[in-house]
Amino acid sequence: MADTVDIAALVDEEAGHVSRRIYADPAVYEAEQEGLFRRAWGFLAHESEVPEPGDYVERQLAGENVLVIHGKDGVIRAFLNSCRHRGMRLCRADKGNASFLRCPYHGWSYSPEGELVSVFAEELYDAEHLDKSELGLIKVTQVDSYKGFIFGCWSEETPALDEYLGDMRFYLDILVGRTPGGVEVMGPPQCWEVHTNWKFATDNFTGDNFHLYTAHGSIAELGLLPPDPMALSFGNLIQAQRGHVLHIVPGPPIPEAEYFGLPMELRPVIEETLSEPQREIAKGHAFSVGTVFPNLSFMQVMVQGDLRSPPTPFLSFRIWQPTGPTTTKVWSWLFVEKEASEEYRKATYEAYVRTFGPSGIFEQDDMENWEECTRMNKGAIAQRYNLHHGMALQVPPDPDFPGPGKAWPGSYGERTQLCFYGEWKRWLTQEEPWA
Ligand code: FES
Ligand SMILES: [Fe+2]
Repeated sequence: MADTVDIAALVDEEAGHVSRRIYADPAVYEAEQEGLFRRAWGFLAHESEVPEPGDYVERQLAGENVLVIHGKDGVIRAFLNSCRHRGMRLCRADKGNASFLRCPYHGWSYSPEGELVSVFAEELYDAEHLDKSELGLIKVTQVDSYKGFIFGCWSEETPALDEYLGDMRFYLDILVGRTPGGVEVMGPPQCWEVHTNWKFATDNFTGDNFHLYTAHGSIAELGLLPPDPMALSFGNLIQAQRGHVLHIVPGPPIPEAEYFGLPMELRPVIEETLSEPQREIAKGHAFSVGTVFPNLSFMQVMVQGDLRSPPTPFLSFRIWQPTGPTTTKVWSWLFVEKEASEEYRKATYEAYVRTFGPSGIFEQDDMENWEECTRMNKGAIAQRYNLHHGMALQVPPDPDFPGPGKAWPGSYGERTQLCFYGEWKRWLTQEEPWA
């Protein structure tokens, strides 16, 4: 799609090569905005963030500020956060509750349902020059939700959300639909900016389970990881469909590490809610990290934030929103089962904030690596040489894996990254990448 760059030549899935240009080239960034982000479904907010009429949050979709707002009629909608008069940013708070949205510039006011309801000095317009029914807020073209996760899409050609998520729904259900109540957010998301290309984040969250002992080596030295670096190499890399990918990793063979280490009191209801193959996967694993294409990642991990606390699970979802070729804004949410006890909520919150988020010991290690990778890949000389994604490509898929999609045995490998880059290439080069 870009005139100045041959996108198709930048990713060679067979050889396992990826050009450094995809992480730094402004022309690639522009092609991504047009071919990918203005067409793909993007995560906006969780319904539990806007539970009451008038509740709103501001988010970004393809780099444009979007307001997700709960209408008085109970419908949650999404609009461009821009006044129809001069384009002013209508809501300037990250979140809030409003009966009306009044523009700070000249006072045009909109209902939470997006209609223009009043205009300053309305008597000075005639009917020909002011038709309020035509000047409502600009709607996000498609808005839909899955298990409380609200997504938006700027293209009407893109298939509906259910079809877009496809087989990934099977795996998402294991994470966010494993109890009758599902999950809710714990507090507002943490938000920060990183000097990295967004794809270093997704690369890490598509199946890079093998960076733990080096990037997080100091944590291994503290005794917070098992001593053998191959101890976490078991499990599976999974390509669900359409570039949605994840990995799952078993924990030690003790009941506490089954079902991702979730509290014992929730387990009977989890067993009842999940289907047989979902149960088998949940029971056998302690960790799962993955990405809903293109930039919604999740991690369900058991961690020790310090040597005194027992391993405790948490579930975080995060958006990697590109704000430029080499800059990314991150939103990271912590989720918990609606049925969870107060004691577990406190424990999962502490486990998360000690290890991830801007102050977390793991997150800082990752950000430093992604920033340095981005900086080094900007160089014209560096860009003459491709990057290497060749680990465990010879391993055939496991035909007996209980879930949908393709699953390769072992969680150390680069197969899922290549699935992601293959899908990325389709969106940037094809009219109907979803066909
Ligand atoms: S820009 Fe909003 S009222 Fe003028
Ligand atoms: Fe990491």
